Amino acid sequence: MRVAIFASGSGSNFQALVESFNKHEIPGKLICLFCDQEKAYVIKRAQKAKVPYFVLPKKKTQTKTDYEKQIIHFLREAKIDLICLAGYMKILGKEILEAYPNRIINIHPSLLPKFKGVHSIEQFYNSSEKETGITIHLVDKGIDTGPIIFQKKIICREQESLEDLTERIHELEHAYYPKVIAKFIRENVER
Ligand code: GRF
Repeated sequence: MRVAIFASGSGSNFQALVESFNKHEIPGKLICLFCDQEKAYVIKRAQKAKVPYFVLPKKKTQTKTDYEKQIIHFLREAKIDLICLAGYMKILGKEILEAYPNRIINIHPSLLPKFKGVHSIEQFYNSSEKETGITIHLVDKGIDTGPIIFQKKIICREQESLEDLTERIHELEHAYYPKVIAKFIRENVER
């Protein structure tokens, strides 16, 4: 499968995936990064890792449909089969979802359906829950609602700081996202 990673921010998950692709742990080809933010640090990571990247911010005058059509045009040119979201901050619309049914994966730093949306680690931290973790799921039209592929739990330690917990969650993401994508590709390649 030919894979595109979509990201908008720091790109630590992008980095983990690149390393895994480079070690041939994922049975697919990383074709490119797609980024919607011109100043995102993930672009620097792509440059350093020599991963082709495509940066396309949405114009204010553009509708979501037109913006997504532009992205799809690029994805088709690049013959992308699978999209992996890694901190991509835009909600995907009908165009992309219909162009890639069951072929868009996302990672989220909570045990969905708990703490959807942004700031989920902080939301958990300020709640009375003791267990959190990560979720890897297929993307549908809701926000963090698609079918769950994988979850991993951790228990928040006594007196653990938000920073330490955040770091532990990111470590889990970096360890499991490549493995789960590898398994997904193995199970979904047309024979
Ligand atoms: C991760 O926590 C991921 O679960 C969420 O956005 C964050 C992205 O972090 N969807 P990074 O840009 O990969 O460092």
